Amino acid sequence: MGTLNVAPVTPLDYRRLAEKRLPRFLFDYIDGGANDELTMAANIADFQRLKLKQRVMRDVSNISTATTIAGEAASMPVILAPVGMAGLMARRGEVQGVRAANAAGVPFTLSTVGICPLEEVAAASSKPFWFQLYMIRDRGIVRDMLTRAQAAGCTTLVFTVDLPIAGMRHRDARNGMGGHSLRARAASAWQIATHPIWVADVGVFGKPHSFGNLEDMVANPTDMEAYKKWLNAQFDCSVTWKDIEWLRGIWPGKLIIKGILEADDAIAAVAAGADGVIVSNHGGRQLDTAASGISKLPEVAAAVGDKAEVLMDGGVRSGIDVVKALALGARAVLIGRPWVWANAARGQAGVSDLLAVFKREMEVAMALTGVTNVAQLNADLIDR
Ligand SMILES: Cc1cc2nc3c(=O)[nH]c(=O)nc-3n(C[C@H](O)[C@H](O)[C@H](O)COP(=O)(O)O)c2cc1C
Repeated sequence: MGTLNVAPVTPLDYRRLAEKRLPRFLFDYIDGGANDELTMAANIADFQRLKLKQRVMRDVSNISTATTIAGEAASMPVILAPVGMAGLMARRGEVQGVRAANAAGVPFTLSTVGICPLEEVAAASSKPFWFQLYMIRDRGIVRDMLTRAQAAGCTTLVFTVDLPIAGMRHRDARNGMGGHSLRARAASAWQIATHPIWVADVGVFGKPHSFGNLEDMVANPTDMEAYKKWLNAQFDCSVTWKDIEWLRGIWPGKLIIKGILEADDAIAAVAAGADGVIVSNHGGRQLDTAASGISKLPEVAAAVGDKAEVLMDGGVRSGIDVVKALALGARAVLIGRPWVWANAARGQAGVSDLLAVFKREMEVAMALTGVTNVAQLNADLIDR
């Protein structure tokens, strides 16, 4: 897409628009990964390397992308991934995200560190949504959040296990995120001042800018730096499988463990009571040089079998990628950056349009590989 006058279609089109719309430090926060961003790049490259078989002369007049995920009907096997601070990229970003997900018939996942609180998302949502949990040292806070999530109608809890400690995001460090240096503050003030559309949309009309689910935890709810400090101190890096058993005991809905790459960890998650696992390296934001999600998917899927649902994320950028992931054993995929770029560029309408393109791409890829429903997608479709 050469100019801004051309309608965005793909995630990369929205990314380019988001880059124009957002202050640099916010764009980099979404766009970046850990260290040299090798894992982030592998997530994309490993999808690109996979080839599908073109198969012809099968009746493909009735194609359906519909499925069920964690016991709920979905129009296609795609979920909006939990993304922290999504509400800083678009006005009340989580609300716009859940509305687009509702309209498309796919699940939306609210992050622990979203801007909009559970109650605001519930009020905007016509359907149950998913809640993602980071383990907080103070288990009383965790209990309270889960009680709120249940009251908000959340059916599925996604417990993220690949962030006992935050990865080294060098772009954020370069932008001075999380610091108080005068230079960094001046730079971000300049970036904000030179992005007036964002200032109006998010800066002025998108308030309050606090972590809505953690609002009562720090004294000044709009002091993001104080929040981040509190959060870093509160993230519990002593978590083990025992804590999942504890969670299982207090969470009555479905429980999905996010951030699994190894088959033995997947088996342990299922043994601890998980209904599903997400093969994920957190979008390449945690351990750099870890393998891509798509390359690890087949062995995890084989180890889990039908004991739990296997989802995956990282680098899914089209309906063709969704087809590839399902062929290699995923029940569904999550998309992170793509929905946030679309939201930053065009709000709810952008996310809706993006999801419509993913669905159409899936239908076309299914027709041209000769399958008519998602149950028929299997490893035979991959051209070795
Ligand atoms: C800006 C950003 C913030 C994220 N915040 C969270 C989060 O709060 N909780 C979580 O479990 N995962 C979080 N993730 C990871 C995503 O849920 C997902 O695993 C990842 O984005 C998938 O890769 P993709 O961006 O290539 O689609 C975040 C990812 C990004 C890009």
